[in-house]
Amino acid sequence: RNLFQLAIDGPAASGKSSTARMAAQQLNFEYIDSGAMYRAVTLAALRQNLSPTLLEDVSKIAQLAATSHIHLHTTFDPPPLPLTHSIPSSSITSSLPQTLVYLNGEDVTYEIRSPEITNNVSGIASNLDVRKVLVEKQRALASGIYDENQNKFSPTPLIKKSPKGTVMDGRDVGTVILPNADLKIFVTASAKVRATRRFKELQQQSYSKRISQIIDFNKVLEDLEKRDKSDYERKISPLKKANDALFLDSSHMSVTEQVDKIVELVLKRA
Ligand code: C5P
Repeated sequence: RNLFQLAIDGPAASGKSSTARMAAQQLNFEYIDSGAMYRAVTLAALRQNLSPTLLEDVSKIAQLAATSHIHLHTTFDPPPLPLTHSIPSSSITSSLPQTLVYLNGEDVTYEIRSPEITNNVSGIASNLDVRKVLVEKQRALASGIYDENQNKFSPTPLIKKSPKGTVMDGRDVGTVILPNADLKIFVTASAKVRATRRFKELQQQSYSKRISQIIDFNKVLEDLEKRDKSDYERKISPLKKANDALFLDSSHMSVTEQVDKIVELVLKRA
């Protein structure tokens, strides 16, 4: 294998997705957001009124995971600048790379980040059969043999735009999906720091959608701790630092500092 594999795991809002995307941009790596795939399956299940906690729905949800076409597309080109100058620059995150997520051809990028999906995703992610299906797709994506458009596996690697490697982020990338990754990083930060980040993100979102909404910090913290607990304590593939992963505490680091650190580590190992 000559494609470099970088695995980044960590709890919710640890900053790993932004960091992984920007590191991918700098390194010319492909970026795979494994959490977005669980979110897409959650959306598909909720749309069919399937409940992650109902026994009779469990196998239907796994079936849905197997038959859904989930397509991830990360754009590294900055979108055009907004036309007005009335938006404060702090709310412009447009220069960050973005991952577009398609479910059976429909753009669900924003919908999968809604509180409803966020609060239900851990339940779906603890379904063993759903995990089996998605882990197989994630491994195949990392080795370039999964055709997302057709939802089929190809016997030979598909031709892609010459990425030099793959960075995947999630909860079990270093432990389960890519156990032989060339570099594994476990990113974390205190719950308070992570909730503050999520809180600011939600405020920014409601600002850019021009909806006035009161966001309660304590509720954000509480939801985050609930998801942490479920991700850390579930029986199958819990969130866990792989033995050979490096620990990165991002509590007092900016995204740029995290990216610099990770890029430096990759270049040392490559
Ligand atoms: O990374 P993100 O917060 O979008 O992930 C959403 C949820 O998907 C997590 O809370 C976790 O329950 C699940 N997940 C997982 N394994 C992964 C990635 C995400 O179980 N590799």
